[in-house]
Amino acid sequence: MRVKKILAAGLVLCLSLQLLCACGRTQKVLTNKVHVGVTYYDQSDTFLGELLASFKEQLNACESGDLETAVMIRDAGGSQKTQNDQVKELIDAGCNVLCVNMVDRSDPSDIIDLAREHDVPIIFFNREPVAEDMMQWDKLYYVGADARQSGVMQGELAADLIKQNSQIDRNKDGKIQYVVLEGEPGHQDAIIRTETAVEALRNNGIKLEKLGYQIANWNRAQAQNRMEQMISQYQNQIELVLANNDDMALGAIDAYKKLNYTDATLPVFFGIDGTDVGLEAVADSLLSGTVYNDKEGQAGAMVKLAVALVTGYGMDQIEFKNERYIYLSYFKVDKDNVGELYEDK
Ligand code: BGC
Ligand code: CA
Repeated sequence: MRVKKILAAGLVLCLSLQLLCACGRTQKVLTNKVHVGVTYYDQSDTFLGELLASFKEQLNACESGDLETAVMIRDAGGSQKTQNDQVKELIDAGCNVLCVNMVDRSDPSDIIDLAREHDVPIIFFNREPVAEDMMQWDKLYYVGADARQSGVMQGELAADLIKQNSQIDRNKDGKIQYVVLEGEPGHQDAIIRTETAVEALRNNGIKLEKLGYQIANWNRAQAQNRMEQMISQYQNQIELVLANNDDMALGAIDAYKKLNYTDATLPVFFGIDGTDVGLEAVADSLLSGTVYNDKEGQAGAMVKLAVALVTGYGMDQIEFKNERYIYLSYFKVDKDNVGELYEDK
């Protein structure tokens, strides 16, 4: 299996960094040693594992005669206290820029204080601190994506398929009975994805009936468990499963598999992310669609920003929203275009 996009993203980044070095010679170099300290909320997260693999690859790829890079990565194991300690350790170890994926995105003050004391800029990613916290210091940045956009795209993918395929309304009542698997409460992506997906389905003329929802914290095994509960409650009534990410959509599919459901009695499933396993499931027609969360683009933006913050080169070439934010666009993936991103070996 190969994910085609990664290489392309890396190449673009290297080219732009070479250009940047070539044309900025008269500028003062702060230092050419970029030592990045990364800490992320939990190593069991599929999407973040892939994002960080791409980050390492792209950071490494921009090493050149002039530029030295190093990275230290820490897993906070779901504990904010552990993450605060890790930030201290990373700064003590000499990291001159931090990439932080908060455990509790509402609680970044300790980390910001530590970084400010040592004048080490922070690039938050994927778990967005609230706007007031981002104003605590001027060396705070955020790289991520717009949750609304992913929800709308998921809803549109589902609406298109429902219009094309009258079999999805299995009981022929003119409505689609659906359930939702939701990510962590309090995460900027969870509730917004659900709300906007449902809104987009309605805006596209689909009549809906919500049967239930469960929180499964982005996690495949939890989603399987919660889905088994919903199947025992609603039996064959469920026609559509909307999941806030691919891992939870796959957990829902696991639940049906375990209960030996046959294809004709399965609902349709939609995820978000386009992780390797997610794309594979789309290619295998298990998952009807997903929305690509551009991890290579996000990782590339983090590398570019980290290098610019440390070296003093290239800040003017980065496009920010509200001076501190970089949001990468999502895009839709279904069986028609999945081959562009994914191929079987
Ligand atoms: C992704 C999820 C991931 C979560 C972690 C979301 O943007 O879609 O797959 O678990 O971020 O913070
Ligand atoms: Ca129906």
